[in-house]
Amino acid sequence: MDHNPDILKVEKLTKYFGGLAAVSNCSLNIKKGSITGIIGPNGSGKSTLFNLIAGNLKPNSGQVIFNNENITEVPSYELFSKGLLRTFQIAHEFTNLTVLENLMMVPGNQSGENLINAFLKPSLIKKEEDVIRDKAYEVIDFLNLKHLANELAGNLSGGQKKTVRTRENYDG
Ligand SMILES: Nc1ncnc2c1ncn2[C@@H]1O[C@H](COP(=O)(O)OP(=O)(O)OP(=O)(O)O)[C@@H](O)[C@H]1O
Ligand SMILES: [Mg+2]
Repeated sequence: MDHNPDILKVEKLTKYFGGLAAVSNCSLNIKKGSITGIIGPNGSGKSTLFNLIAGNLKPNSGQVIFNNENITEVPSYELFSKGLLRTFQIAHEFTNLTVLENLMMVPGNQSGENLINAFLKPSLIKKEEDVIRDKAYEVIDFLNLKHLANELAGNLSGGQKKTVRTRENYDG
């Protein structure tokens, strides 16, 4: 049995912009739990490759397999719930929320987002928030940011912001 399976496989991915092949027949495998970098000169297709994997661009050919599922052309908002998330070079934290509040925003479909629940099921919302807050504190601990949990995220250093906030939408 393979104890360290591939979490991501890129198979013969090709993307043209007009006549220009920005990514040409690219294949790679990434092991679960590994930290993998990709390097190359300016214009060699790194960002295009990330955009293809993350569902922001559709390839001309080839496929992307994540956790044994073919996710080629699955849009990025669906990939989030499958556990694949693209981050960008510039952090976009919610500057006027604390580090804790920023992290509590991450789980999707919270009951409190529904106005009717807010009026009729406040105890359900509170219960859910308690679980989310505990999880957020776990992450804060993991990030070594305990001392900044109640600091406004806008006051963090660039590197600290990147660890807190990874749902940006700007490629710097
Ligand atoms: N939306 C687009 N339309 C047309 N051409 C594009 C588009 N995006 C990228 N390209 C071209 O595709 C090629 C690869 O660009 P890409 O941005 O993927 O390179 P990169 O490796 O990320 O470069 P850098 O290191 O400068 O960030 C370049 O020639 C670029 O001009
Ligand atoms: Mg780039």
